[in-house]
Amino acid sequence: MWHYGSLRCVRREHGRLWAVASSELAPAHTRLLYKHGFHAGNAADVLKHCVLICLLQQMTAKNKPFSYVDTHAGAGSYNLLGDEATTLGEHKAGLGILRSAVEQGQELPASAAELLQISDGLDGAYPGSPCIAARLCRPMDSLLLVERAVDQHASLLDAVGADGRVTAHLSDGYAVVRDRKLCPAGGKRALVLIDPPYQFGSDNDQIATVVEYCTKHWRAARLAIWFPLTRDASKVDRLYEAVCKAAGDSDVLTVELQTRGHAKTSVSGSGRAADRGGGDVGGGGMLGSGMLLVQPPFGIDAQLNELLPALDSLLTEGASVSPTLPRVSWLRRS
Ligand SMILES: C[S@@+](CC[C@H](N)C(=O)[O-])C[C@H]1O[C@@H](n2cnc3c(N)ncnc32)[C@H](O)[C@@H]1O
Repeated sequence: MWHYGSLRCVRREHGRLWAVASSELAPAHTRLLYKHGFHAGNAADVLKHCVLICLLQQMTAKNKPFSYVDTHAGAGSYNLLGDEATTLGEHKAGLGILRSAVEQGQELPASAAELLQISDGLDGAYPGSPCIAARLCRPMDSLLLVERAVDQHASLLDAVGADGRVTAHLSDGYAVVRDRKLCPAGGKRALVLIDPPYQFGSDNDQIATVVEYCTKHWRAARLAIWFPLTRDASKVDRLYEAVCKAAGDSDVLTVELQTRGHAKTSVSGSGRAADRGGGDVGGGGMLGSGMLLVQPPFGIDAQLNELLPALDSLLTEGASVSPTLPRVSWLRRS
């Protein structure tokens, strides 16, 4: 059993660790709290953050301000020598691989090199999405960060709270995006990162609601949604269906990378999910991850088409685990 203030122990479920809060202190909906510190810097984080860096570079290429909105901001940065990160040591299969590749004289894709540089600037801590955005946003840009867990929000304030461009809410990220008092909409340029723990089974519906809101009322917002690839490939298909339906006529691009297990099945007629099934990771663990981009910036697909094979080769250490992934493909394109 580990102790985390009011959090008494952790439990493994779906390949991730959850901190179990003491029942007298936590309301029912927060009894099982996802703690990103256990997974920070893993292969899924590296994919997510490299894609985020590419998006931020596209957003900052235009000489016009934009808002970065992080609906599930987490703790901001993560000490890789701390109790949480060392419990599983997942960062060794992510950031650690990037670091040793550089030590061996290998050249990294530009976004991965940037990620490593940001981590070096934090004395080797792993930068969460808020720290990455704070590093790449310009003085004219603003950052709206939302985190629902009290302890994570406190760490977030420690990590980026002193930055005058940052507003950090202790709230529900899905609701904040649709709150006109807190969040800009209309024609204001924005990049919205939605990075939920997929904990209570309602995330697809909530993501769809945000996508529908943004495509109707905030056409200048670009959305990036992280998702896990698991043995149950139908979960991703359900997310795709929900997002494409909510996106109306907006473009939707998906990026998928498998970093563990072995794909045993061939691509189905839909060409979407079958190759994610049949992985041999025990306990329903994650096989990889992906990012869904709604209204993505022009030209991002070409950039990601270069990044994904390079990350695949690095993170699987040259032994690609899926014959059909990595994949960058349009689910909808006008
Ligand atoms: C995967 S972590 C975020 C990691 C972060 N985006 C990064 O890349 O560094 C998910 C976070 O969402 C928080 N969370 C869960 N549900 C939330 C909600 N409805 N609104 C805001 N935050 C939420 C969790 O406490 C957790 O810290």
